Amino acid sequence: MAEAKRQGYRSRAAFKLIQLDEKYKFLGKGKTIVDLGCAPGGWTQVAVARNKGTGQVVGLDILETEPIVGATLICQDFTTEDAPDKLKALLNGPADVVMSDMAANTTGHQQTDHLRTIALVELAYAFAKEVLAPGGIFIAKVFKGGTEGELLKDMKQNFAKVAHAKPDASRKGSPEEYVVAIGFRGE
Ligand SMILES: C[S@@+](CC[C@H](N)C(=O)[O-])C[C@H]1O[C@@H](n2cnc3c(N)ncnc32)[C@H](O)[C@@H]1O
Repeated sequence: MAEAKRQGYRSRAAFKLIQLDEKYKFLGKGKTIVDLGCAPGGWTQVAVARNKGTGQVVGLDILETEPIVGATLICQDFTTEDAPDKLKALLNGPADVVMSDMAANTTGHQQTDHLRTIALVELAYAFAKEVLAPGGIFIAKVFKGGTEGELLKDMKQNFAKVAHAKPDASRKGSPEEYVVAIGFRGE
């Protein structure tokens, strides 16, 4: 966290997004970006900085996020029924990027935590399919082995390429990784 603070980021998580973007190059001028689970705001800061004052960044978290110039942030539980519509109403057009760093509060019971995180990923993915422009990218935090079965199958049908990535900034021993679905085919 000390290094993040030194560089002006609100979270160490910012480095994970920087590393994912270095690998997959999805942020940048003119992009419309949705940031799910944005508090305290590290990813949003990176997205806004890489947009260089162009495009749009819309973030949501169940917790309050201190304002960030260049981003529109709302405080709402993403699992509530009207959350997707509220986000859509804020978007000026289709999104280029839907990224989710949402993580359910851990209970200590690994299977429960796994299921709750997968539920969040499924919701984020359903939303992404509704708002992404063709060619868009979906990124979500999952636990290792988290995107198996039906979800992975659906992603492979709807995107040109699906990969899993663990940025160096993600703690070595943690089961956290990110699913990266590139090149949305459009519905
Ligand atoms: C790892 S943190 C995100 C860090 C953020 N990417 C950053 O760079 O600062 C995960 C976030 O997911 C949020 N979250 C968990 N469940 C949520 C839900 N149902 N709806 C909205 N946000 C949720 C948490 O409140 C938490 O802020």
